[in-house]
Amino acid sequence: MVKEAFYRPDKNEYFNEWEFVDKVRDDTGFIPQLCLVATINEEIVGYIMLSKALIGKHAGLSLGPLAVKPSYQRKGIGKRLIDYGLNQAKDIGYEWIVLTGGDYYYQLGFEPALKYGIKLSDNHPENPYLKIKFLYNNKQVPGIVKYCDSFYDENGELL
Ligand SMILES: CC(C)(COP(=O)(O)OP(=O)(O)OC[C@H]1O[C@@H](n2cnc3c(N)ncnc32)[C@H](O)[C@@H]1OP(=O)(O)O)[C@@H](O)C(=O)NCCC(=O)NCCS
Repeated sequence: MVKEAFYRPDKNEYFNEWEFVDKVRDDTGFIPQLCLVATINEEIVGYIMLSKALIGKHAGLSLGPLAVKPSYQRKGIGKRLIDYGLNQAKDIGYEWIVLTGGDYYYQLGFEPALKYGIKLSDNHPENPYLKIKFLYNNKQVPGIVKYCDSFYDENGELL
């Protein structure tokens, strides 16, 4: 289902989300309780994964991938998965979630991370797309985001 949501015939799929989710499952940053599916009549129609991340020494989460089966998109399933996943994360005690993504996430309470001096690295081209949501109204100290190992290639570059 993740492949169905992300696959584009014209895209270089060297890095792709459906193999990536398998890789994270073997990572120390994987959190089984925060890897969730949405089902309708026992069919999987949505997927969300939250994995461990750091800003400096502060532990939090990264959101992604998020995927909804194409024929079920724009019916509120993505939003429901995020709301549910973030509530679960809050119950466990996590204080913030980062992700790299588009405007979709603003309606869900995410803010530009740069506003808080939070970056992927100095001058990283994706810094403007880095978003953060604080679950307890606490505003994280500035710093560099470090995802779990599966997010980086053999040269330490973010995939
Ligand atoms: C992005 C994605 C997860 C959204 O899930 P969804 O269930 O379709 O989204 P929702 O129904 O919860 O969205 C609610 C609102 O978000 C906005 N929205 C949703 N998908 C959008 C899109 N592709 N482009 C722009 N806005 C979008 C709309 O405002 C929508 O409300 P509306 O339909 O009343 O206009 C889904 O489209 C998907 O799987 N896309 C392919 C994979 C992907 O890009 N994943 C995200 C990157 S990790």
